[in-house]
Amino acid sequence: MAESRRTHTCGDLRIEDAGKDVVLTGWAASVRDHGGCVFINLRDRYGLTQVKADQAVTPEAFAIAASVKPESVLRIEGRVVDRGSNRNPNLPTGAVEVEVVAVEVLNASKPVPFPIVDDVDASEVTRLTYRYLDLRRPVLARNFALRSKVCRLTRDYLDDQGFLEIETPILCKSTPEGARDFLVPSRVHPGMFYALPQSPQTFKQILMVAGFDKYYQIARCFRDEDLRADRQLEFTQIDMEVSFATPELLYDLIEGMLATIWKGVFDIDLPRPFPRMPYAEAMETYGCDKPDLRFGMPMVTITDAVAASGFKVFADVAARNGVVTALKVPDAESWSRKDLDGLSKVATDNGAKGLAWFKIGAEEWTGSAAKFLTADEKAAIATRTGAGTGDLLLVVADDAGPARQALGAVRLKVGDRLGLRDPTKWSFLWVTEFPMFEWDAIGQRPTAVHHPFTSCVPEDLDLLETEPLKMRARAYDVILNGTELGGGSIRIHRRDVQARVFKALGLSEESARTKFGFLLDAFEYGAPPHGGIALGLDRLIMLLAGASSIRDVIAFPKTTSATDLMTASPSEVDTAQLRELHLEIK
Ligand code: AMO
Ligand code: AMP
Repeated sequence: MAESRRTHTCGDLRIEDAGKDVVLTGWAASVRDHGGCVFINLRDRYGLTQVKADQAVTPEAFAIAASVKPESVLRIEGRVVDRGSNRNPNLPTGAVEVEVVAVEVLNASKPVPFPIVDDVDASEVTRLTYRYLDLRRPVLARNFALRSKVCRLTRDYLDDQGFLEIETPILCKSTPEGARDFLVPSRVHPGMFYALPQSPQTFKQILMVAGFDKYYQIARCFRDEDLRADRQLEFTQIDMEVSFATPELLYDLIEGMLATIWKGVFDIDLPRPFPRMPYAEAMETYGCDKPDLRFGMPMVTITDAVAASGFKVFADVAARNGVVTALKVPDAESWSRKDLDGLSKVATDNGAKGLAWFKIGAEEWTGSAAKFLTADEKAAIATRTGAGTGDLLLVVADDAGPARQALGAVRLKVGDRLGLRDPTKWSFLWVTEFPMFEWDAIGQRPTAVHHPFTSCVPEDLDLLETEPLKMRARAYDVILNGTELGGGSIRIHRRDVQARVFKALGLSEESARTKFGFLLDAFEYGAPPHGGIALGLDRLIMLLAGASSIRDVIAFPKTTSATDLMTASPSEVDTAQLRELHLEIK
């Protein structure tokens, strides 16, 4: 057969092409023999085209087509014809089919371990072992086309804004940023190690000192942490840093970038500016620092309304300065005991000691602790929460942190049950005024909530040596539908302040010098004020694609047990290799 290139992809042909002679290449998605006529669905990453071989017309092509095994690679020549009354409206190419003149099997496939279809029921182990087959599934192919498009939109946008794309090293110095480092032993320096970057954080700050005032990079980051549905050991950030930046400038930049992406992908104009919420309000009202605002249902603190309650749980918690927090679920008459038990389990799984519930009937309140509440208490709770007949109140009493976190988790579950967490709805939010430090009970010292290079609200700097936990950081997260899409901050750019923060974090002067001497030194040679942000690209694509796992938007992901099943990594290495690296396995 002639070596001519394909004339069209498998997603191209339309009714206007009827009558054309074409060459297609692709994979045999299905082969159906209708006795005297073989139909092959030819697939490539662009789509699917039906191909027909008729024994009566082209006996030779028919014979080859009839023997084709699924997933074999084919090259076909033929003529586009109208499918007439047999059109398939569910397929972009469904108005036509190609009557083959010649079929060539470029490479036959063995029987595949699972069918290549979107709603595949193979285990993830099988899919990841045969990732090349998994990636042939149209739904995954679309995710990677989307990913590529988003990267292009991002680069174009940042280029328009005057940003330079600059690469930073993968072999770095170990500078802890919260997670565990991946270490790489040095062959030339026995006993010494590089670390893979958890992010380009310190390098991008150094680039600001160098005068590259607008930097970005689509950067690979490595963190040795436990994997989850939205976490990988290596992941990609859209990483940015800007000199002379203010939070407002960065909000505007990121909103513009996300608006460009949403316009390019969905042709949607995102409403701007995105709403903002201080961290403290997010915690009090939604029980987490990344509230899903696709629906309302704020939590309401009712501690003082029940401080003197006959329900001991509430009164005791109020007495020890805890919090009683309530969630109103409107029109919940139909919620069953089983539903409520399910919610109680969510509360206790998230650290609550229990979940009290009250159903407000026309006559009376029913529920787990209703009999303990006086009429005045009920009236006070109703006023505070705005609850009325038909509503359900869910209540957790505990120390402020755990109580709100648990009820926040219940709120999300209620949102799920009411169908309020619509994946096609986009709710962006900036969470601002994060605390600078949190208390690390194990290390018995403050740790940085964002990272040690984050600056504080100027008037809080005086608290650094006395009440660091009261300090507010100039840090911000951008949240989408309850997922943390990205985070950043205005940085420290003065050596003395950075040294004081290291000290507050329990880093001795000597160890600050050893770990971050280069940064402290750089700050003494004209470091401009600067700030930046990094967005998780994988999470962004996951949300855009409506994927349920980050693994569906990473071509070769690791499993939750941190292995690559296709290449079988990690793996053992030769003793000779270890010797060269001055290593010995214990
Ligand atoms: P941060 O640690 O908040 O900030 O990371 C920024 C964003 O990266 C994504 N992300 C991850 N995605 C997948 N798997 C992971 N294991 C993972 N960890 C983080 C999240 C997160 O919001 N250097 C700072 C940024 C800055 O201050 O400019 C940083 O790395 O979407
Ligand atoms: P008990 O008296 O322990 O049987 O609890 C009565 C009701 O109060 C049950 O519905 C419990 O789930 C609920 N409850 C118990 N502890 C708490 C708490 N800390 N906060 C809210 N409700 C609670």
